[in-house]
Amino acid sequence: MPKIDIHNLIITPDTAIPAALEAINKNGVRGIFVCDEGDELLGIVMDSDIRRALLAKLDLESSVKTIMKTSPFVISATVSTEQRPQLLVQSDKLLVPIVDTDNRVVDYIYLPDILDQLCTLSSTAEPMDDRILSPQRVLVIGGMGYIGSVLVSKLVRMGYRVRVLDLLLYGKVELSGVDSGQFEFVRGDCRDEQVVKEVLKDVDAVVHLVEIVGDPACAINEAFTIETNYAATQMIIEECMKSRVKRFVFASSCSVYGHNDAIVDEQSACNPVSLYARCKIESEKAILSNGYDLFCPTILRLATVHGQSFRQRFDLVVNLLTIRAVAEGRITIFGGQQWRPFISVPDICQGILTVLRSEAHLVKNQIFNLGDSRENYQLIDIGKALKTELPDIEMEVQTENVDKRNYRVSFEKVKNTLGFTAEYSIADTVYDLVSAYRDKHLYHDHKDARYHNYLSLK
Ligand SMILES: NC(=O)c1ccc[n+]([C@@H]2O[C@H](COP(=O)([O-])OP(=O)(O)OC[C@H]3O[C@@H](n4cnc5c(N)ncnc54)[C@H](O)[C@@H]3O)[C@@H](O)[C@H]2O)c1
Repeated sequence: MPKIDIHNLIITPDTAIPAALEAINKNGVRGIFVCDEGDELLGIVMDSDIRRALLAKLDLESSVKTIMKTSPFVISATVSTEQRPQLLVQSDKLLVPIVDTDNRVVDYIYLPDILDQLCTLSSTAEPMDDRILSPQRVLVIGGMGYIGSVLVSKLVRMGYRVRVLDLLLYGKVELSGVDSGQFEFVRGDCRDEQVVKEVLKDVDAVVHLVEIVGDPACAINEAFTIETNYAATQMIIEECMKSRVKRFVFASSCSVYGHNDAIVDEQSACNPVSLYARCKIESEKAILSNGYDLFCPTILRLATVHGQSFRQRFDLVVNLLTIRAVAEGRITIFGGQQWRPFISVPDICQGILTVLRSEAHLVKNQIFNLGDSRENYQLIDIGKALKTELPDIEMEVQTENVDKRNYRVSFEKVKNTLGFTAEYSIADTVYDLVSAYRDKHLYHDHKDARYHNYLSLK
């Protein structure tokens, strides 16, 4: 990236927070220096500090003074330009001011700029269009979750070497048929920078699936949610860039569209109605503004998932209504008219694999809705699918306490660009879960907290 005039990277302490973010976005460098009128350094503000403040609903009228980091790491202007990159890498910072003997900011050094230089010079630099094929190593962060555990077993079956980082928030998960020679499990917290550095060693691609998922679970402890769902993502992508990871796939969500009466696609305005969706949007922005040319991130906005997994969930609407219908013979649908896109667990995993195996130029810095346009349903349609499988169930429709989310989504981009379409529909999951309960005697403990993120965390 061409060097920015240092004066464009300096703001005064009275600058309002939104104006600071605007300046950061304009420069394309992910931070800005706060100086007094004589350019003497007072602090630094990174875009992550601002996004975190916005997520925590800090007063927008406040100035950057309230969130800047004082006493930041600096490099003295007396250090030679050849030595500065080494100090930056050692400091673990993204952006560092170069200051003169009076602590005035005279220049800066920015990690993505020097990584590009290092990679261009390095004879081992891989061509960008490298696809991620087995036996390359994939790190799945959150790989013991509902989606992750199925993805991991698929990747191992396909000959990938797979490493998983997961905190096992919802208990131990047994993956059947996974060859331990190809699979490594690390129990750890992805908010911990040292842990992340360690698990990124020799990794070709990262699939990031960690999130406090679901609106009620996110509301339990908002600060913890922001740390996990937003701040950790920001740190992880920075570490991925430093470790020269080739690919990064981020699981976002179609819930960023919130309430929207039109059919929405990747160009449509987001309209989040929850902290969960706001964190997704801010994480997407952080990922897309990485500024490092040799990094290839892809954002997948997943439809609502259904189906069976090694870490089963019954707090997702298709799974929940089906298990209640078969176990209790009656269901309640709230509202019923709201549109929502759905996709099965195996299809999501196939979609993620498709992205990894696609040429980088098709997926780099791209957002794809991941689902299938045929799988948009009104909630009442799930009731109809259940009635077909279980004609004797009682179905009550309640018009109170309706979830405000309503969105119908176009999945034409992922179909036209990557050739992805879903293989399974909600009717397949209804059939599978009913037969798992009735014929295989599974899930008779479906109310157990481990199947419900909110109940496990509260
Ligand atoms: N399930 C859906 O319907 C759906 C829809 C849209 C998007 N998504 C996204 O897909 C991703 C995966 O969803 P899921 O349904 O598999 O969720 P999940 O809750 O089953 O899995 C999340 C995993 O992350 C782990 N985890 C949580 N905090 C951690 C931490 N700090 N460090 C390490 N591990 C941690 C948990 O132990 C769990 O195994 C999430 O990003 C979610 O937002 C899911």
